[in-house]
Amino acid sequence: MSERAARATPPLPPQPSAPINPTPRGPVPMAPTVSAVRQVHLTIDGRAVSVPEGATLLEAARETGVSQCSAEIPTLCFLESLTPVNVCRICVVDLEGTRALVPACSRKAEEGMVVKTDSERVRLSRRLVLEFLASSVDVSTSPQILDYLEQYDAHPDRFGPPQAPSATRDESRAGYHTTGTYGRQDACTTSSLDAGNTSALAATVAQPVKSDNELYVRDYGKCILCYKCVEACGIDAQNTFAIAVAGRGFDARISTEYAVPLPESACVYCGDCIGVCPTGALMFVSEFEMRRAGTWDESRQTSTDTICPYCGVGCTLTLHVQDRRIVKVGSPITNGVTRGNLCIKGRFGWQYVQIQGHRIQNSRFKMEDSRTEDPEGSSESRGDECASSKSRNR
Ligand code: SF4
Ligand code: SF4
Ligand code: FES
Repeated sequence: MSERAARATPPLPPQPSAPINPTPRGPVPMAPTVSAVRQVHLTIDGRAVSVPEGATLLEAARETGVSQCSAEIPTLCFLESLTPVNVCRICVVDLEGTRALVPACSRKAEEGMVVKTDSERVRLSRRLVLEFLASSVDVSTSPQILDYLEQYDAHPDRFGPPQAPSATRDESRAGYHTTGTYGRQDACTTSSLDAGNTSALAATVAQPVKSDNELYVRDYGKCILCYKCVEACGIDAQNTFAIAVAGRGFDARISTEYAVPLPESACVYCGDCIGVCPTGALMFVSEFEMRRAGTWDESRQTSTDTICPYCGVGCTLTLHVQDRRIVKVGSPITNGVTRGNLCIKGRFGWQYVQIQGHRIQNSRFKMEDSRTEDPEGSSESRGDECASSKSRNR
């Protein structure tokens, strides 16, 4: 170093000899030891069963095969991929020593429990639940509920003919509901009261279908208020919170914020709500239109699992096909990555397959057509042939 540079750069002060790594102040954290899950022992329908601690009564009955001996415990609001909300109460079972029946889908198995899943009391309770549901809701597109109605010998028609649909159910106010037999009337029942039907009518949630976008319709006259769509839209899958339950009691309903149309709401059109809806209240426009035209026929449909082509996540898609056309798309909840959830592209972005297919088909016929020897050399006859090929393959 030159003398001039040594004058410009003063020497560094002495550094304290601090350790590079700070000394730990407490015990060094250790990975928790893996302890075996405790087993709990209980009796279900007279059979001794043993399940891991934390299992529900429904899991205990299903996994230990009890349901193979007695009737399967029915469920409506329960889905393996969602947090149990136990609102439908169709899964109730008789637990010895408790006053009320308990929901099997959420009640945890405990040591020494004695459970009956199909007693007379249980069957009566399920029958009533089904009758209340089916007398107030259109369950015609829910094969599951139709099966249960038969299985439990339920007669929802004993509550009388259904009330007329109401166009103002979204405006119902808490505390103003009446079935029509009492003094106060609310917007929900005005039409039937005006018609003079004030007594022997079953209160219903019948209302016009909400069709405000090109992808799916909401027919809340078919809604059993199972909360599955709310959970899928919220913390259990999508975290979008576009829909929630509004109103109270019989006026409770699924709604967007301030009941705005879907395009004005927070909805991102993932369709996860459609995937979990057990009644058909939420339906692809394609299915809705086909049902309305009378062409929907599940016996002619096939389903094929494939991989979504849009991005690297590679979600599994289940394509439902009728007459060589995709009519709706789902996703298996058993898939460990996506658990039945998709985004707008996977759920609704499949029209291009048909458009492409149509183009390919047409170009194939054009090619075949151009190769066809035309003795007359007439372009008109080629055009006719092409047109008839197209019409054959429509
Ligand atoms: S489509 Fe998705 S974002 Fe829209 S309401 Fe359904 S779950 Fe929520
Ligand atoms: S719309 Fe379907 S999923 Fe949502 S609460 Fe109603 S029945 Fe359940
Ligand atoms: S399935 Fe258990 S309460 Fe609905």
